[in-house]
Amino acid sequence: MTRIFIPQDVAALAVGAEKVAKAIAAQAGDGVSIIRTGSRGLFWLEPLVEVETPAGRVAYGPVAPADVPGLFAAGFLTGAAHPLCLGLTEQIPWLARQNRLTFARCGIIDPLSVEDYRAHGGFKGLARALNLGPSNTVEEVVKSGLRGRGGAGFPTGIKWRTVAAAPADRRYIVCNADEGDSGTFADRMMLEGDPLALIEGMVIAGYGVGANKGYVYSRSEYPHANHVFARALYVARKAGLLGPSILGTDFGFDIELRVGAGAYVCGEETALLESLEGKRGVVRAKPPVPAIKGLFGRPTVVNNLLSLATVPTILANGAQAYADYGMGRSRGTMPIQIAGNVKFGGLFEDAFGITLGEIVNEIGGGTLTGRAVKAVQCGGPLGAYFPPSLFDTQYDYEAFTARGGLIGHGGIVVFDDSVDLSAQARFAMEFCAIESCGKCTPCRIGSTRGTEVIDRIRAGIEVEANIALVEDLCQTMKFGSLCALGGFTPYPVLSALHHFPEDFRRGACPVAAE
Ligand SMILES: Cc1cc2nc3c(=O)[nH]c(=O)nc-3n(C[C@H](O)[C@H](O)[C@H](O)COP(=O)(O)O)c2cc1C
Ligand code: SF4
Repeated sequence: MTRIFIPQDVAALAVGAEKVAKAIAAQAGDGVSIIRTGSRGLFWLEPLVEVETPAGRVAYGPVAPADVPGLFAAGFLTGAAHPLCLGLTEQIPWLARQNRLTFARCGIIDPLSVEDYRAHGGFKGLARALNLGPSNTVEEVVKSGLRGRGGAGFPTGIKWRTVAAAPADRRYIVCNADEGDSGTFADRMMLEGDPLALIEGMVIAGYGVGANKGYVYSRSEYPHANHVFARALYVARKAGLLGPSILGTDFGFDIELRVGAGAYVCGEETALLESLEGKRGVVRAKPPVPAIKGLFGRPTVVNNLLSLATVPTILANGAQAYADYGMGRSRGTMPIQIAGNVKFGGLFEDAFGITLGEIVNEIGGGTLTGRAVKAVQCGGPLGAYFPPSLFDTQYDYEAFTARGGLIGHGGIVVFDDSVDLSAQARFAMEFCAIESCGKCTPCRIGSTRGTEVIDRIRAGIEVEANIALVEDLCQTMKFGSLCALGGFTPYPVLSALHHFPEDFRRGACPVAAE
């Protein structure tokens, strides 16, 4: 039986993977089986079709339906040469250069096959956790050095310890899959490509802290991912990975999928909890932190999807094996999402320590337009704009902070030299105004005033005085806001102002002045 692998990830579907799969199925005779996978994350090569050969999987891409007859004629079922042939998939330099721990299975397995999952290392982490016992499981996560991949980079194991130690009749695990950051897609890829890893990670978390119920908070903009994940929950229940007796033990755990209505602020953990409780997504004052008083007032682990999906590999291979990757206090690997105006966009997972310049120029290949890179926004809409002069910054939480930036959820959006950073600064303020939950004044009012003042700067009105006003306003927002939406909006604004001052001093902009 020849096996052909075709992604069913939404990024591949968007560029025609379904039509390609149909064309291949129509021409493939008996003895060929088509397996739908997640994406390998090399988006410029999608739809990427792989054929299993004795030497390994051979890749072809990007494949259009019209290419299919030619592929068959060339003998691609045996991995034969063809202009679209990329050689052995694992040897494609972009993939071979990565260290895939969190995304080890994504694009390789059938996401809904428990057998495939098990054959590729699934369940090993959970089995080891059940052997270690709850508190040693938590300590393994502490030792691994894993930090939250949702934005703040808080040590995951320490959060779990707090939840485990908080006296309560019930505890909860909440997976934050709201993924609102611009240019990010890793959570979605995992939901579509390896959902059982997330489920296993949540079960381990529940076992570690003494919780029997978990929620995945996803977004309505991810209908395909939500559909796959709902099916994965069904498959996991049937396999005993969820339910009253996990893998035959007396530990029970189950997960519910909830879908938010599309507010950026509902990714903030306390607004998310409000939303999960059926209320409007408004930020709660902290303390108490959710680890002490979270969902329905109970101690709650709120972790980003990637944090939880990384836990099985940590438990399976041991904390040290994970901690051996990385630099300083940034241990392990980060699934970096390269997007925007870039030649080779996609998911690149590597150990912390790689430089921003390597990511943008070598891995990303520079801009798609072929023009010079002018700026890179790292860490989502609340992240700073980095100019090329800071491309020696290492991908590390502390190194980014030292340069006024943040890693956030691992998103990197590249801009060429046609971008106007004053327009981007305005956009940051406008975004904050639109997405503000309205609870505190610096964010609710400040962002609207900030948009207006930047409009005046762009119109050439009292430029220096208005720049000083924006800087002052940013200080108020930074230190007076209740959460990071208002508190971090100054980062893109101030970085744009400081690194690209000429964009704010161009005189009257005809569009802005209208
Ligand atoms: C406005 C705002 C939006 C956020 N959006 C997300 C999000 O989409 N996904 C996420 O995991 N964390 C998001 N966070 C961070 C969460 O509040 C929280 O720190 C995180 O879910 C904790 O998980 P972690 O420790 O695994 O990173 C957001 C924070 C803020 C202030
Ligand atoms: S900073 Fe903005 S989003 Fe956060 S609590 Fe205040 S008003 Fe709400």
